[in-house]
Amino acid sequence: MFRTTCLTRNFLSILDLDPGELEAVLALAARLKQERGLGWQAPTSRALAGQHVALLFEKPSLRTRCTFEIGIHELGGEYLHVPHEVALRDREKLSDVAQNLELWVSAIVIRTFAQQRLAAFAAAAPRLRVINALTNEQHPCQALGDWLTLVERWGSAKDRTIAFVGDGNNVARSLMEAGALLGATVHLGCPDGYHLPERVLEQARAATSPRAEIRTFIDPAEAVRGADVVYTDTWTSMGFEAEAEERRQTFAPYQVNARLMSLARPEALFMHCLPAHRGEEVTDEVIDSSASAVLDQSENRLHTQKAILLTLMGG
Ligand code: CP
Ligand code: NVA
Repeated sequence: MFRTTCLTRNFLSILDLDPGELEAVLALAARLKQERGLGWQAPTSRALAGQHVALLFEKPSLRTRCTFEIGIHELGGEYLHVPHEVALRDREKLSDVAQNLELWVSAIVIRTFAQQRLAAFAAAAPRLRVINALTNEQHPCQALGDWLTLVERWGSAKDRTIAFVGDGNNVARSLMEAGALLGATVHLGCPDGYHLPERVLEQARAATSPRAEIRTFIDPAEAVRGADVVYTDTWTSMGFEAEAEERRQTFAPYQVNARLMSLARPEALFMHCLPAHRGEEVTDEVIDSSASAVLDQSENRLHTQKAILLTLMGG
């Protein structure tokens, strides 16, 4: 009843969904957002009753962790935290951890370093639904919240251009993949050496809807010219702290400030997954301006994660 038609068992990557499935998840999220005010009267408030979801976070998190906890609770499910020290270190094999957990829980939400770990977890425990809460390579839950934010403003992503400037990282990749599936034009403005790998760009291009386009730039000004959205993220993602000083210098020309925003369309939005490093990748002036959609993105993390939980576990 609450399930969108979806072939994937896990949500490790945006490309686990096809364009129709992605649109259905966003539509379900919009409905959940509307119905949230009903509290326990909401039709989905018992949808996950009797099911447990494990949360396994190996990196810090505010938004993803809080919204999964709240979302599972609001759907009538239960969550438990699995300490990463016991699950992802040398205490026992990853496949042994996965096979134990699938005896007790229906799904697991994992934030870790290598994407390969998620794939290994999923392969070892075929009854578990595995959800990616961020890896070094991808952040698909973020992209769901981002695109709900845009689709609810525009109605459709088609004929729109989103420009990501900065590090070609996990957030950039999932944002690009979702944009491609939804038919948007995606510009990536990254320094030489910091673009997404060519094979990742090719994979996204192969999955795009016919109207979508992915273009890469070195010059941030060219990347944002005429864009409907300027998006950035930290220059130093979690796990790359040793490179922070070098990155501060390399990325300085990619700061999103009023001058860079002025090259985008006059009504262009500013977006950031957060946490922001004010004065580095974005100025206070931009992130605090009326163009900034960052709090809408954060709010929509909750509704979209409830939608992906229902899609994988509900019904
Ligand atoms: N954007 C995001 O994923 O935030 P957290 O790291 O706080 O979860
Ligand atoms: N790219 C950032 C995103 C944080 C939500 C990181 O991986 O640290």
